[in-house]
Amino acid sequence: MTETPAMKQPDPCAMVIFGAGGDLTKRLLVPALYNLAKTGLIPDNFLIIGADIADRQSEEWASSLQTAIAEFAGNASAEDQIRDVDPAVWAKLAGRMHYLQGDFTRDEFYHTLADKLGALEQSHATAGNRLFYLAVADRFFGPIVTHLGAAKLTVQDKGAKPWRRVVIEKPFGHSLQSARALNQTILQSLAESQIYRIDHFLGKETVQNILALRFANSLFEPLWNRDRIDHVQITVAETVGVESRGKFYDVTGALRDMVPNHVFQLLAMVTMEPPTGFRPEAIRDKKFDLFTGLETLRAEDVVRGQYEAGTINGQSCVAYRAEPNVAPDTKTETYVAMRVRINNWRWAGVPFYIRTGKHLPARLTEIAIRFKQAPLAAFQDMSLETLPPNWLILRIQPDEGISLKFEAKHPGQTMRLAPVAMEFRYTDWFTPQPNIGYETLLYDCMIGDQTLFQRADMVEETWCVVQPVLDLWAADPAPIPTYRSGDSGPKAADALLSDDAKERVWRAIALPQPHQAS
Ligand code: BG6
Repeated sequence: MTETPAMKQPDPCAMVIFGAGGDLTKRLLVPALYNLAKTGLIPDNFLIIGADIADRQSEEWASSLQTAIAEFAGNASAEDQIRDVDPAVWAKLAGRMHYLQGDFTRDEFYHTLADKLGALEQSHATAGNRLFYLAVADRFFGPIVTHLGAAKLTVQDKGAKPWRRVVIEKPFGHSLQSARALNQTILQSLAESQIYRIDHFLGKETVQNILALRFANSLFEPLWNRDRIDHVQITVAETVGVESRGKFYDVTGALRDMVPNHVFQLLAMVTMEPPTGFRPEAIRDKKFDLFTGLETLRAEDVVRGQYEAGTINGQSCVAYRAEPNVAPDTKTETYVAMRVRINNWRWAGVPFYIRTGKHLPARLTEIAIRFKQAPLAAFQDMSLETLPPNWLILRIQPDEGISLKFEAKHPGQTMRLAPVAMEFRYTDWFTPQPNIGYETLLYDCMIGDQTLFQRADMVEETWCVVQPVLDLWAADPAPIPTYRSGDSGPKAADALLSDDAKERVWRAIALPQPHQAS
């Protein structure tokens, strides 16, 4: 058995959370910190300052989060909730939590923050290392970083300690232009090595496993190219609607919300060239190269849709236009499907079909790789057209695993074929850890590993690919196509595949049944 390498212990540090009263802090950050504390991956000398506008006491803030841990610190993918909060682990965390009320759009706030940090850094012996986490609406990203810079709170000597790092949530920009402007702003106060642009999909085990599958096995890589692969389908389907996020979503839409970030990260993991090592820049360089090879999208490569009322799992759902904080005549898309091409030696001619949407029939994220047909149908009554192809399905969530679909001889006296599957399920091999997907990302921020974070050039390159479509849609007077809630998206999305090859269809958006090939 291979020995597990010892985990690097994070340096002592202070973490300042902007947006301490927000949903992200409650649902993800503090539950993930709790899970890290439980596995001993929070430094002994650690402190958290939660900053927000509401007036509250540290104890009150901490205890509101204790309830959140019970609700959210389970396994996000399995959608299970954890059991009781371990009092010793919680006490360790709660004793390090301090609340700071203030308006972080004003200069005065940063003076108070500097004083508070100075005092607490002494008492908690955090050696001056600081992690600023911007869990706030994106309009605050630039101003907060500028303020932090002006107050000299992020000053870091080249390569030296104490380190100062800033974590920026998505959305990183609303367009190519705004993403560039935001990069320019934050790079005036920070070096690229201090910036951690989060894409939480990269915190998922199954997403990180794509690199293990490809580069720790010699089996797949020789097949991983245009000679062997017919096409790839990437699906990120959700059953939820916009929930309480109508205000944000209605000016964002499915494309901005999911594609240049989460979906393109999945695409990059599957298609990037092998890095020369598992060093952050080696991997980020390969991803950047890949993004530069993405063909700019054209109108005919993209289909959008908006959900109408319908039924999902027996529950009736309202139309998007009837959701709270959504304009009644909105044209915002809640679904997008596209055909992406990669102009490089490995992938030339292989279409990547991508779709993501809300109010779809199942919550399912998967990458399905369809191999080319066998060159000859050597079996009785079998033509090449009827010979089913091989598929490799990477199930990202919720039924985490990998499935390889191939043909086998059906038992009996005649040579008859039947599709079968080899299945790998995470839960069959590994003990599930409480994991909401932010643990690795937070740990990486604390140990200074930027592998799973976006670099300025990567972010801008992905916006370049989608911007022409956003511009076309903004100028398009036509009504937006719709789909019934619970359906798999607008009909027009089928043509993206069938126009390329008449037998090509989307895979069903449905969870595999136990003991059934997916
Ligand atoms: C977020 C999007 O980034 O990702 C949401 O803003 C989306 O709209 C979510 O629902 C999906 O993430 P996950 O981890 O639940 O698949």
